[in-house]
Amino acid sequence: MRVSTCAVILLAAGAMAARPFLDEPDTGITDVLVDLPKGQLPDLDDMVALNDFQYAARNYLPAANYTYYRSGAGGEWSYRNNLEVYNRYRFKPRTVVDITSISNSMNTTVLGYNISSPLFISPCARAGYGHPDAELNIVRGAAANNVIYVVSGFSTLPLKQISAAADPGQILFSQIYFGNNDTYNTEQIRLAEAAGAKAIVWAVDSPGSPSRQRSARYGVGSANTVFLSNSWDRYHSLQAQTKLPLVLKGIMTAADARTAIRQGVKAIILSNHGGRNLDGSPSSLEVALEIYQTDPSVFKQTEVLADGGIRYGTDALRLLSLGVKAVGVGRPVMFSNVFGEEGVTKALSIIKNEIMNDAANLGVANIKKIDASYVQWTPNNWYS
Ligand SMILES: Cc1cc2nc3c(=O)[nH]c(=O)nc-3n(C[C@H](O)[C@H](O)[C@H](O)COP(=O)(O)O)c2cc1C
Repeated sequence: MRVSTCAVILLAAGAMAARPFLDEPDTGITDVLVDLPKGQLPDLDDMVALNDFQYAARNYLPAANYTYYRSGAGGEWSYRNNLEVYNRYRFKPRTVVDITSISNSMNTTVLGYNISSPLFISPCARAGYGHPDAELNIVRGAAANNVIYVVSGFSTLPLKQISAAADPGQILFSQIYFGNNDTYNTEQIRLAEAAGAKAIVWAVDSPGSPSRQRSARYGVGSANTVFLSNSWDRYHSLQAQTKLPLVLKGIMTAADARTAIRQGVKAIILSNHGGRNLDGSPSSLEVALEIYQTDPSVFKQTEVLADGGIRYGTDALRLLSLGVKAVGVGRPVMFSNVFGEEGVTKALSIIKNEIMNDAANLGVANIKKIDASYVQWTPNNWYS
């Protein structure tokens, strides 16, 4: 009797044991590149997935540089959740569907600007930690793929220099950390306008200094050291100074999304800053689902963009299915930059291709018509 009770407890414990977190899921790259010496770059041809670029950057970059990109806040629970959340929701693929026109449906618009795919590059600071040409590689990779590049306000190179490297007609948005000093804020707006940015992205999710423990060990933490007095008055005063639309990045609740609509915001980005600011903040998929379940009209009243943890086309599709208009990738682009412009170009084309082919395999004939019925929204307990 005692033995069988023990066996039951052990079996139950085994079944409930937490699945180990895999920062870079095993798809065999370490087996293929087993002889790659530390500090050396693999061949770009060996990169077949976004996560491969993380492997390459981890192997190649000085630890401090890699850590700056990789780091999350606190115990990195939100960072991990961002990566794991997508697989809590299984697809409901449709079969016997003619999907041969899927490629014609990939183009979309953000704030009226045409892009080739519902994809943008999220603003990430300090591209110089990855490559001496820093953001120049990223702006060119974005041009080659015709996707929007949201240039970080803490870029290594000045916005003016980055925009000078853009193709004619290329769409850049300028992300700004507005501060408490009105003169500084006005100057930043004028710089964005002078550089030809088509929108200004205000990161509203970072009013305090984040605790990035992994980064702190290498002295590469956040540059923000003051408390910021964000307010709707500030939003209106900033918006009144420019004709460029002011996009709010870092919306994390349906309530804030609705407030933004009431205040006239034309586009919002659901984001928890890649899990780098408030540990415990929700992933953008969880926020998109909250919006979908409580007030789906939000997706019609403003353009809803989202980022965080997107590493596969299938991640993007789950967000798009809820009504998100385009998705952003952050770290993978910074990691791909270790290969320079060609690396960024390849990383973006990989994710674009995955979004298209995964949509085809999901049985989506027209990506603009994907909807929530393609996903089982009851979470499985795969990662619990
Ligand atoms: C190294 C790094 C630097 C970042 N710098 C900025 C920044 O300057 N401004 C900003 O709004 N967000 C910044 N972010 C957040 C990204 O815009 C984006 O929200 C996040 O990276 C998305 O998650 P992902 O890296 O998992 O794709 C940064 C993220 C990383 C990883």
